Amino acid sequence: MGKNSELYIAPSILAADFGHLTDSIKQIESISDYLHIDVMDGHYVPNISVGVPVIKSIRSQTNLPFDVHLMITNPLTFIQTFAEAGADLISFHIETVDDPLEAISQIHSFGKRAGIAIHPDTDIEKVFPYLHAVELVLVMSVRPGFGGQRFMNEAISRIALVREKLDSCKSDVLLSVDGGISEMTAPLVINAGANHLVMGNFIFGAEDPADAIRRIRSCVTL
Ligand code: DX5
Ligand code: ZN
Repeated sequence: MGKNSELYIAPSILAADFGHLTDSIKQIESISDYLHIDVMDGHYVPNISVGVPVIKSIRSQTNLPFDVHLMITNPLTFIQTFAEAGADLISFHIETVDDPLEAISQIHSFGKRAGIAIHPDTDIEKVFPYLHAVELVLVMSVRPGFGGQRFMNEAISRIALVREKLDSCKSDVLLSVDGGISEMTAPLVINAGANHLVMGNFIFGAEDPADAIRRIRSCVTL
C-alpha cells in the first residue's frame, strides 16, 4: 500500500457497555471512521446481539457512519429494515444467500453501501466474483458470533489474496478484517492489505478507548 493510503477504524459496539452506549460512542467518535454494529440472530451464529431498535436509538447520537454486520440467516428479509433504521453500510455473509448480487443490488437500491463478509471456513475465492459490485469486503479473522476471540493467523494470507485481486483491477473497495485485532495483529493485517479494521475488545476493553485507537494508528505506517 502507498504512503497516503488511509486506515479506517471501526470500533465494534459489541464490546461496549450497553448500559452506557452513548457514553462509549462519545469516547471514540472523534477518532473513529465507522461504528461497527454486529447483528446476530442465534441461528447463523450461536449468539444473539442487537437489532433494529438499538440502531434506531443510537442513530441520533452520532454522525459516525454505521457499518452494520449482519450475521443472520435471512439477510434479504431485513435489508430494508436496517437501511431505514440508519445503516450506512450493510454487510451480509456470502454463506447466507443464494445470489449475492441480489443482496448487493437490494442494499444499493436503498442508497446504502454494500459489504460482503466471509466466514473463516469458506474458500476465500468465493468472494472474488463480487468484488466489482461491493464497497467493502469483510474477511473474518475469528469464527463469527463472539467478541474477544483469538485472531486466526490464516486470515493473513486470505487478506493478501483479496488485496492482490483488488489491486489487479485498481479497485478501491475497502478491505476489512474483523476479529481479534489488537496492537499485535493490526500491523500484520495491514501489511497483508487490510485498510478497514473492526475492533471490539481492544478498544472498549481499554481503560482509555480513544488512546487505544491512537496506539493502533501510531503503530502502523502505511
Ligand atoms: C464477531 C464480530 C466482531 C467482534 C469483534 O463475530 O463480528 O465484530 O465484535 O470483537 P473483537 O475485536 O473483540 O474480536
Ligand atoms: Zn463484526
